[in-house]
Amino acid sequence: MKLTVVGGGSTYTPELVDGFARLRDALPVTELVLVDPAKDRLELVGGLARRILARQGHDGRITTTSDLDAAVDGADAVLLQLRVGGQAAREQDETWPLECGCVGQETTGAGGLAKALRTVPVVLDIAERIRRANPDAWIIDFTNPVGIVTRALLQAGHRAVGLCNVAIGLQRRFAARLGVAPGDVHLDHVGLNHLTWETGVRLGGPEGEDVLPRLLTEHGDAVAADLRLPRALLDRLGVVPSYYLRYYYAHDEVVAEQRGKPSRAAEVAAMERELLELYADPALDEKPALLARRGGAYYSEAAVDLAAALLGGAGAAPYQVVNALNRGTLPFLPDDAVIEVQAAVDRKGAGPLPVPQVDPLYAGLMASVTGYEDLALQAALHGGRNRVFRALLAHPLIGRYDRAERLTDQLIAHNREHLAWA
Ligand code: G6P
Ligand code: MN
Repeated sequence: MKLTVVGGGSTYTPELVDGFARLRDALPVTELVLVDPAKDRLELVGGLARRILARQGHDGRITTTSDLDAAVDGADAVLLQLRVGGQAAREQDETWPLECGCVGQETTGAGGLAKALRTVPVVLDIAERIRRANPDAWIIDFTNPVGIVTRALLQAGHRAVGLCNVAIGLQRRFAARLGVAPGDVHLDHVGLNHLTWETGVRLGGPEGEDVLPRLLTEHGDAVAADLRLPRALLDRLGVVPSYYLRYYYAHDEVVAEQRGKPSRAAEVAAMERELLELYADPALDEKPALLARRGGAYYSEAAVDLAAALLGGAGAAPYQVVNALNRGTLPFLPDDAVIEVQAAVDRKGAGPLPVPQVDPLYAGLMASVTGYEDLALQAALHGGRNRVFRALLAHPLIGRYDRAERLTDQLIAHNREHLAWA
């Protein structure tokens, strides 16, 4: 089985390779190709990746290249984990929206739109080349903003599934609090990428007992502290929002915080420098502990699970949280919206499980962000100042014309080199 990782020079890659090594029974990878334009990084990361496999006695071959077409040729699945413009562009996304009193975040709000505009054309070009090389290859998209990028891929007819680690992270954390194995926890997870709520926490599977009320009663303080939201809010909702909902529920508090400290991009860039130094040490043959401070914890496990299920591997988890077409699952959203829910995943793809009626408290926000995502995709595909403005005006965290005007100008000014039309 051949797997290709686009953005393979990412400091996240050792996390992924560690997953391939540990979970080789579910996903027997014989060839792993890391492709990245950044040759220096690729060599450092590739070296460590080989040592990780060797240490764990995995006989798969790892190759590194900057030639995308060669890399995807014959691949059964291709993982996309790229960041157009790197941490420098992310730093911008996290900074200029603050000047208008808006949250500075790489996937939420105006920064997320900037990232979508930079990323969608690049990803669509890569996907086209994957399709040309192997029309049956699966594309697993971890590239943010995952909802919009996956929608772009599916709309263009690609065999794609979007992936995020938020759900698997919560599953692991809840399992630890409840004293059960992670695989025994099934989340009733509903929403859009980075806009989700856990409305149930079931033991054993989709039909299992819902222990969310017990989790909140017994561990509510800890769950609230993880999310940095008030316990009282969780008690009133009776569901667990993802930490990305803090950008909505505590928007102004987040803005005040962000104004007073370095950006996450700067923090991550410093961590990456440290990580790359560690990776250069030929004695290192496992993923370093520092990697756990990145947001992508458990990403490797989610990715291996998803690839295993899509490629028909043994023992893959039958239900997984993925980003897939709505197709009536949430009746208040268009069929072609991309939603993030539990799905049955097999060789044919991901089919969302039925979702019980959603409380308007969450459905309203999902609908409004879906409208924004639609307009964001239009702007990413066709460009133009007016399309950018329409997407920003539609975003529930922006919504006022004067702000949307100013943010439009800033977005374009800060991203000119990445936008063909600007
Ligand atoms: C979470 C999200 C990812 C995001 C990451 C950022 O894992 O699910 O979509 O890319 O956080 O992590 P970072 O360490 O770069 O801030
Ligand atoms: Mn994510």
